[in-house]
Amino acid sequence: MAEAILEVGGLVKHYPLTQGILFRKQIGAIKAVDGVDFTLHRGETLGIVGESGCGKSTVAKMLVNLERPTAGSIKYKGEDLTRLTGRALKAVRRNIQMVFQDPYTSLNPRMTVGDIIGEPYDIHPEVAPKGDRRRRVRELLDVVGLNPEHINRYPHQFSGGQRQRIGIARGLALRPEVIVADEPVSALDVSVQAQVINLMDRLQNEFDLSYVFIAHDLSIVRHISDRVGVMYLGRIVEIGRDAEIYDHPTHPYTQALLSAVPVPDPAARDRRERIILTGDVPSPTNVPSGCRFRTRCWKAEDRCAQEVPVLAVPAHLGDPTGPAAHDSACHFAEAVSIRRSAPGQTVLPEPTP
Ligand SMILES: Nc1ncnc2c1ncn2[C@@H]1O[C@H](COP(=O)(O)OP(=O)(O)OP(=O)(O)O)[C@@H](O)[C@H]1O
Ligand SMILES: [Mg+2]
Repeated sequence: MAEAILEVGGLVKHYPLTQGILFRKQIGAIKAVDGVDFTLHRGETLGIVGESGCGKSTVAKMLVNLERPTAGSIKYKGEDLTRLTGRALKAVRRNIQMVFQDPYTSLNPRMTVGDIIGEPYDIHPEVAPKGDRRRRVRELLDVVGLNPEHINRYPHQFSGGQRQRIGIARGLALRPEVIVADEPVSALDVSVQAQVINLMDRLQNEFDLSYVFIAHDLSIVRHISDRVGVMYLGRIVEIGRDAEIYDHPTHPYTQALLSAVPVPDPAARDRRERIILTGDVPSPTNVPSGCRFRTRCWKAEDRCAQEVPVLAVPAHLGDPTGPAAHDSACHFAEAVSIRRSAPGQTVLPEPTP
């Protein structure tokens, strides 16, 4: 397996929950991220999916140091970012860059694209001497498929997809090794989404990048991810190689998410059993005891309220090298096989005997 470039361990972010305006009193905690572990290997794409509010963006912000973790470690090539400050932190941070969700609000409308893409050089002048910046910015425009002659244009003169290309060019300016992309295509038209994903795919090979690619649903990350982690209420509940997650999910939450993935073929749609989750996601200020998914889980038993399931290969699933052998945080993890009627289509989750 390739070298581990990022190792995240026990990552926690709790925001104080306060009451009152003048005399703010802390009355609890918003557990936005509540114990996340994963490893990102060189050259791979780790997809992270989960419903709104499960903590995806908070994880992303901690990876690029926009938020300081409440607890846990983020190791970049073995060095824990959460323990670094000042110059040492700045030097490491350069290697981990973010691409944001909304290309409409994340670009300053009063700056030219040349200034937007070149802005990281103001923070890291050692990367590009002043006289060399415009040449580099033009090269970056070309790399992401935009016309270098448009260097003096403003964001509003570009389409949504083109603006996300500008965001990607800015993310590449410092030649990082890791890109954290927080829902980079969610704000774009479906027809444009594939173009941006293809571009990111190409850039990954060209620049030897490792990606953490965040999305709302499993269908978007499918094409780009080598491994996928599924988040629920501040934690990863299942993580594994692409085929393991899509074809042999073992966590009830992943199975429910997969059963909701749209199927284009009507015949396949009819044969598929849909799992409808009841109830709402609990509030991150009031996380259920034991397994946090139990309040919506059709398999929940007493044990689930008492014991927090660890994220590990479920021992009872037998064959440790089999397709179901990947980490799943469920006391009653059960391998189901997802039949596919055609590549890319997900049909009927059936329990395997
Ligand atoms: N600065 C903050 N202060 C207080 N609570 C916050 C803050 N940022 C995020 N939260 C809360 O933390 C939880 C996780 O938020 P986060 O933005 O990480 O979710 P997300 O998975 O990215 O959601 P979405 O899919 O909608 O982008 C939410 O309940 C959110 O309201
Ligand atoms: Mg988000």
